[in-house]
Amino acid sequence: MALAPGMFMKQAIPKIKRQVGGETALCATSGGVDSMVCAFLAHRAIGKRLIALFIDDGLMRENEAKVVSRTLRKHGVRTVVMPVAKDFFKALKGKTDPEDMRKAFRDTFYRTLGKAVRKYRASYLIQGTIAADIKETKGRIKSQHNVLSQIGIDPRKYGLSIIEPLVTLYKPGVRKVGKALGLPRSIYERMPFPGPGLATRVVGEVTPERVRIVRKATAIVESGMKRFKPFQTFAVLLNDRATGIKKGKRAFGNIIVIRSVESKNALTAFPTKVPYTVLEKIQKKICREIPQVTKVLYDLSPKPPSTIEYI
Ligand code: XMP
Repeated sequence: MALAPGMFMKQAIPKIKRQVGGETALCATSGGVDSMVCAFLAHRAIGKRLIALFIDDGLMRENEAKVVSRTLRKHGVRTVVMPVAKDFFKALKGKTDPEDMRKAFRDTFYRTLGKAVRKYRASYLIQGTIAADIKETKGRIKSQHNVLSQIGIDPRKYGLSIIEPLVTLYKPGVRKVGKALGLPRSIYERMPFPGPGLATRVVGEVTPERVRIVRKATAIVESGMKRFKPFQTFAVLLNDRATGIKKGKRAFGNIIVIRSVESKNALTAFPTKVPYTVLEKIQKKICREIPQVTKVLYDLSPKPPSTIEYI
């Protein structure tokens, strides 16, 4: 970060105030560190004229709508949850190519935000896009869900006027701003969570049933890995199957990958060196609690050549 966090806030808060004027703004808040810090920064600038919007798209982690909305409200941020899972599953139906999936997500995401802006009579959408999101999208690595104008898509297409207070920052800078805002460590040190949520961790078609499997596995992986405080850890559902034995019978089941990486800015990453016994424990719990899973793998790949997520 070029600016110290205090100086960044000194410039960013009045700027948001000026940009929003006397109007109302929405902030799309998925619960990852960028969107949370962005929501609190915007709240500092415009108070009750900010509405934090949690889009409940059916692709979030267990209890996430409750946890995120409770955290925001506890800190005085006006928050609404929009249940729109059906729209997202409809948009993703039949899609298996990662970029097709990402573009379908992005389009549904901004359509939903367009509707929300009209519903709440807001004039602006404030979003937590950061420098790495733009870099990876422009570099054609993957189309991040929250990059539009930088790749020539006019937000007015969705009826939106967008403010992006964090675009000059990378992840460590965002965390420093969160800390300088006086937020609890549990917020500014939260793991990154991608906007398209669990859809980035389902290889192949994203269906409610497949998301349920990866959601349950994610909760087990997160809880088993918690004490190592990795940069990011989660489960992935592969589009392949493997023969296994469940309750003494042959089962051609699903394959879950445990992914855990260490990184500073998500542009490069290394797999977490997890003790074998910990991996074993997680594998046992996944196979025991998720009947559809017959095989669990650990991903050893750094970024590059891999990326952190799977689509
Ligand atoms: P990859 O998979 O490209 O991820 O190595 C780098 C970082 O970006 C997150 N990520 C996203 N974040 N919208 C987001 O807000 C997206 O579309 C998206 N795709 C990946 C990922 O979780 C990691 O922290």
